[in-house]
Amino acid sequence: MKLIRNPKQIQRCSLNLRSKGKRIGFVPTMGYLHEGHLSLIRRSVKECDLTVVSIYVNPLQFGPREDFKRYPRNLKRDMMLAAAAGADYVFAPRDIDMYPGEFLTAVCVDKIGKILCGSSRPGHFTGVTTVVTKLFNIVLPDIAYFGQKDAQQAVIIRKMVKDLNMPVTIKVLPTAREPDGLALSSRNAYLNPSQRQDALVIYKSLRKARQLIRQGERNPHTIVISIKRLIQRVDSARIDYINIVDAADLSRIEKIKGNILIALAVFIGKFRLIDNIVLRV
Ligand code: PAJ
Repeated sequence: MKLIRNPKQIQRCSLNLRSKGKRIGFVPTMGYLHEGHLSLIRRSVKECDLTVVSIYVNPLQFGPREDFKRYPRNLKRDMMLAAAAGADYVFAPRDIDMYPGEFLTAVCVDKIGKILCGSSRPGHFTGVTTVVTKLFNIVLPDIAYFGQKDAQQAVIIRKMVKDLNMPVTIKVLPTAREPDGLALSSRNAYLNPSQRQDALVIYKSLRKARQLIRQGERNPHTIVISIKRLIQRVDSARIDYINIVDAADLSRIEKIKGNILIALAVFIGKFRLIDNIVLRV
């Protein structure tokens, strides 16, 4: 496996591979790889001729008071994990190569970028879509792999690709979880043992929602109230949002029907965690 830091170099490499008819799979990440990332890499390795993994903590998608500085980083370890999962290239650009000098362009998916996580993290999704556009233009993938863990991000990327006719196929793979249900996240590294325990309430509340729906509950408000109560019992937990929306376009729903997304963001202590499930009703 090869480490490339220079955008021009990986772009040349990709152009060359594409001219030979190779199918390039791409897994964009911010590093500190875990089993969720690795499941995406393995799928790409299975389906494509070559797999590129990008590791880049994108400053554009962090708010001024967010965790950009303390976001966990370990390129050496990431390289070993990516190689073991079968990746061919790790693209780990430096900030100066991604954003040299004044940067004046943004890619913004309106409306669906402003709700859910977008309302508590203004500008976040514009940062994501801008960097993903840059990464697509640099890596030139045939297929790009994303995780359901970031459900809203996946919907927004699909919309961007469709709206802007980007020649990339987007695949979204299931959320990888710890045996006790906690969704894997690089940010779990922030949690102390008692917060780690408290964080279990997040998936527990999603399971509770699923159970209520299976028992016939069809009013989204009733479900939200019931899981709110469950989370509020945990002292270190503070709800950012809980919402039930249409899974395909994140639109509001008044009745549980069709493909629905139950998504939430909860602070455990100072750390904001997100999770979601999709149900077909
Ligand atoms: P990051 O949080 O590192 O996630 C990279 C990819 O891994 C995303 O597609 C995310 O949904 C997926 N992923 C994370 N946790 C997962 C889990 N438990 N199971 C399955 N997939 C999981 O998302 C980003 O980085 C950035 O916003 C990025 C797209 C790289 C742009 O900077």
